Amino acid sequence: MALRIDGKAISQIIKDEVKEEVAELKKRGVDVCLAVIQVGDDPASSVYVGNKKKACEYTGIRSEAYNLPESVSEEELLALVDRLNNDSAVNGILVQLPLPAHISESRVIEAISPEKDADGFHIQSAGALMTGERGFLPCTPAGIIELIKRSGTSIEGKECVVVGRSNIVGKPAAMLLLRENGTVTICHSKTKNLREVTKRADILVVAVGKPKLIDASYVKEGAVVIDVGIHRNSENKLCGDVDFDSVSPIVSAITPVPGGVGPMTVAMLMKNCAEAARLGAEKTGKL
Ligand code: GUN
Repeated sequence: MALRIDGKAISQIIKDEVKEEVAELKKRGVDVCLAVIQVGDDPASSVYVGNKKKACEYTGIRSEAYNLPESVSEEELLALVDRLNNDSAVNGILVQLPLPAHISESRVIEAISPEKDADGFHIQSAGALMTGERGFLPCTPAGIIELIKRSGTSIEGKECVVVGRSNIVGKPAAMLLLRENGTVTICHSKTKNLREVTKRADILVVAVGKPKLIDASYVKEGAVVIDVGIHRNSENKLCGDVDFDSVSPIVSAITPVPGGVGPMTVAMLMKNCAEAARLGAEKTGKL
């Protein structure tokens, strides 16, 4: 029977670690603050932003919410980002994506100071990950690594296959697995014989955005499977990119959906905020 990797429990441990770190910083006169910007009122974004706010409350991080109307101009949004960049009380800035079509997401993300890039989406953070410099890690891929390690799997020397090549998950997840000394293959929509490649994986990370694409025929016996997808099926039930019922009998460990990767993203965001505050305080001589 496969180990069900409990993202809820592991994310709770990380949030408790952050809570301790935040309390320690507070004792030394450093407050941690995350500014969260949401444009419009997309229901999914509102749920994500609400979860981030709750996690801030739990860990002792102060959160500032900026809700801008769908009609806000790119200039107005950039002006807010600029103001927050220059506000020394704000350690992390997060702009919830997606943004309305009239606003360039990349322009807005690149406007965030890399020192406050809590999401790890800035091109400087991506470059740092690529070259092994210090930088904020994107939260979902960082959470994937924590799930693998904290559930008892070592990555070094393993065949790691990532299905999906997005800038937010697939590519950074592959770089992090490489950093952990995995042997990494990235697959995508043009990959020939996907099954043959995924079947080589000791560690299989799936982030393709296609409900239940990966069934047992894609997976090696005893593999560790991380499912990043989240979808609602026709019965309004949540499911992932992996067909859990088909795959779980043959693997050694697998993340469920919900309760796998999802909760890790928010926990790693809290970790980035605390780190941003610590580094900022060290830079300005407060610590
Ligand atoms: N939209 C969906 N996921 C995310 C995320 O992790 N960060 C931001 N900023 N927007 C998102």
